[in-house]
Amino acid sequence: MKAQLRSEPKTWLITGCAGFIGSNLLEALLKLDQTVVGLDNFSTGYQHNLDEVAGLVTPEQWARFNFIEGDIRDLETCQKACDGTDYVLHQAALGSVPRSLADPIASNQSNIDGFLNMLVAARDANVASFTYAASSSTYGDHPALPKVEDRIGMPLSPYAVTKYVNELYAHVFALNYGFRAIGLRYFNCFGPRQNRNGPYAAVIPNWIAAMIQDERVYINGDGETSRDFTFIKNAVQGNLLAATADDAAKADVYNMAVGDRTTLNDLFVCIRDALSECGTTYDFEPVHREFRTGDVRHSLANVSKAAGALGYEPTHTLRQGLKEATPWFVNALGGS
Ligand SMILES: NC(=O)c1ccc[n+]([C@@H]2O[C@H](COP(=O)([O-])OP(=O)(O)OC[C@H]3O[C@@H](n4cnc5c(N)ncnc54)[C@H](O)[C@@H]3O)[C@@H](O)[C@H]2O)c1
Repeated sequence: MKAQLRSEPKTWLITGCAGFIGSNLLEALLKLDQTVVGLDNFSTGYQHNLDEVAGLVTPEQWARFNFIEGDIRDLETCQKACDGTDYVLHQAALGSVPRSLADPIASNQSNIDGFLNMLVAARDANVASFTYAASSSTYGDHPALPKVEDRIGMPLSPYAVTKYVNELYAHVFALNYGFRAIGLRYFNCFGPRQNRNGPYAAVIPNWIAAMIQDERVYINGDGETSRDFTFIKNAVQGNLLAATADDAAKADVYNMAVGDRTTLNDLFVCIRDALSECGTTYDFEPVHREFRTGDVRHSLANVSKAAGALGYEPTHTLRQGLKEATPWFVNALGGS
């Protein structure tokens, strides 16, 4: 796939390119000498993420990046961004279950209205494919483990509703317009440039930051809640495969994960070990508190559909991902 991309440079549009996943996609594509248009309104993304990518690629590669500061809630902005694009990687959305519970209207506007704008603009621009950030939250209250794409339950949060509606719209666009929209249901991604500040930070950056700053780590519930933690390089691989797959990999949704689950109690130990390898010791035990509303108890993906249709093969386990990601957090947060 990498060889194919290098021999045939294409134009990619990454929405949400100043965020965590978007900026990692940007870095990967520029390093493959692709031309990239980025769109972001900086609602939860940062200029410093873009600046960091600029420092990781050559000046020639950076010159192939064109940034549009704008909002996907505006159709004209989406149309301008899609013009001349081969592949769309649509990441822009308001993430976080608690954020959506606090302000469901804002989540709906970016995640559903904005998504539909992007679908319409990409369809009208005749892009070759539209790969979008779906979510494991779509499994909702379905108890089966591991999660298989066609068995979902009822959503547990406004955020999950928005991500499920994305899938429904993508399906309907495939059905009626022959539009190739592929959803990647991310399972708890983590890695460099993930936001570690504020009430909506995800568990891994939140705990790494707490440990580096010698603050208490809080576990919601008994700690036996489990997740399929997915290192960002696995998700990047999945996006590039999905976008460039031949037509046999039809418009559909795919789990994007490792296929292994870790409890929060074990995650605490894994992070403490990874930090210790970077020379940061943490001596406190975690503090358990109430379960969080809207959270699912267990999450584990079956990734065989993505493996079969896209050739997806995760390269990093949780521990391997933490080994790569932790030095970045230590550096960013000024730990030892
Ligand atoms: N990180 C995960 O574990 C995870 C899991 C499941 C799904 N997802 C989905 O993946 C995508 C990327 O998530 P992330 O973790 O990188 O989050 P992030 O908050 O770091 O990135 C999202 C980016 O989208 C931008 N954005 C938001 N609303 C916008 C709007 N209306 N117009 C333009 N830009 C807008 C933000 O400014 C930000 O840069 C999201 O769609 C999220 O729902 C992430």
